[in-house]
Amino acid sequence: MALPFSHSIPSPVSLHPMPSHLAADAPAVPVLPRSTDHHHHKLVISGGGHLSGHVPISGSKNSALAVLAGALCCSGGAVEVRGVPDISDARAMVAILRSLGAQVQERGGGELAVDSTALSSAEPAADEVRKIRAGFFVLGPLVARLGEAAVALPGGCSIGARPVDLYLRGLSALGAVVELMHVKAANGRGLTGGRFHLDYPSVGASETLMMAASMAEGVSVLTNVAQEPEVADLARFLVACGAQIKGVGTRTLVIDGRRSLHGAQFTVIPDRIETGTFMVAAAITRSCVSLSPVIPCHLTIIIDKLSAVGCRISQKGDGILEVSAATATAGGDLRGLYLKTLPYPGFPTDLQPQFMALLTTCGGPSIVEESVFENRMHHVKELQKLGARIEVHGRSAFVKGRTTQRNVALSGSKVEAADLRGGAALVLAGMAARGVTEVVGVHHIDRGYENFEAKLLNLGADISREVIC
Ligand code: UD1
Repeated sequence: MALPFSHSIPSPVSLHPMPSHLAADAPAVPVLPRSTDHHHHKLVISGGGHLSGHVPISGSKNSALAVLAGALCCSGGAVEVRGVPDISDARAMVAILRSLGAQVQERGGGELAVDSTALSSAEPAADEVRKIRAGFFVLGPLVARLGEAAVALPGGCSIGARPVDLYLRGLSALGAVVELMHVKAANGRGLTGGRFHLDYPSVGASETLMMAASMAEGVSVLTNVAQEPEVADLARFLVACGAQIKGVGTRTLVIDGRRSLHGAQFTVIPDRIETGTFMVAAAITRSCVSLSPVIPCHLTIIIDKLSAVGCRISQKGDGILEVSAATATAGGDLRGLYLKTLPYPGFPTDLQPQFMALLTTCGGPSIVEESVFENRMHHVKELQKLGARIEVHGRSAFVKGRTTQRNVALSGSKVEAADLRGGAALVLAGMAARGVTEVVGVHHIDRGYENFEAKLLNLGADISREVIC
């Protein structure tokens, strides 16, 4: 639903080249019919084929969600955000903004105009906040701007306890008092500058505190801040809106608060997790696929790990990567490795399940250690249904992999996605498996991948979405 949008947008501040999926000559991606209730969908994959061609990478989910929350800081003008992927998490964030009185106009092609110059509430719709982790990010801008906020505990993938202590302790350091989920500025007006050290470099807490400090009165120093590219992208957005942030992309941010930020135009970075997922799709099917737009320096550890298993990764032009595992079948198979998830620039937890699926098809053993979330192994049980040989001990998984060239590691089965990235991993495994794999729980995948199966179909995958009767 498009709402009236009457405020003028300030002159363009374009920080990234327009993603190719927004450009007129972007490769055509067939769009499959969808019913509105994705809980009743399944993906049916006939595995064993190869992929080829090009994947248009969407704007980053995690950047877009943070930037949309950041739009609440802009009391002095509307913002125009480009590259917002058409995913259910982004729709939930839009519903949260609207529940606060912001006007959001969907312009198509991933472009949203958000006018939050007048807010009518400090309490976002709890049912929407409970759908996504990023729903809690609005706490920072709301307390800083309105002097109070009541935000329900957030949702998101069930991959661990996911506490919010760092958010609340950080806001207290900036002059807030916390009474259950009601957070108020102690002075009754707004936040004040302060120092806060994050015991762990939480992405969401870093982003929430950066937004709050950008509008607090005085200087704030945040240390041990998360260095994920999406955190830096949010910082660049805030700077485009007039925030004074030094140390963007580093562990220490020095922020000189401004009571009011203005509007800007902004394009979010390409999604490095979607990119990594399609790189694994090429590897697991022993295929050659190109991808763009990408920012190669965001993918360093992913490129390193895929090279270590035996893939060839080459840069084919500005923002274009090619992943080839096609020679693996002729010149020996891909090989297993050791992987440990860590905060950026370490290996991303959001690619752990997809890599685990790949490693079940590689020669020799692998070890996958999950250090970020304590309960992110739901996909193991489902991969086992496909024939994968994996043992879990605490937060480590021992993947046995293939023992001979001939034994096929995986064969099709019915499996259930329990979370977003685990769901993607099951689809990838299904593409490598002999026979037919059916994945239910597709609504999890729809939370974070724009046209996932349509993009795979375009690469030649045998995949279809069906309504479960
Ligand atoms: C974000 C990403 C998610 C990604 C994760 C780690 C978004 C919308 N989601 O989630 O895709 O998997 O970063 O890269 O951007 N923690 C605490 N206390 C807190 C906050 C976090 O103990 O107050 C812990 C968490 O329980 C977890 C770890 O810190 O074990 C990392 O979580 P965090 O970086 O906060 O992830 P999110 O921001 O939730």
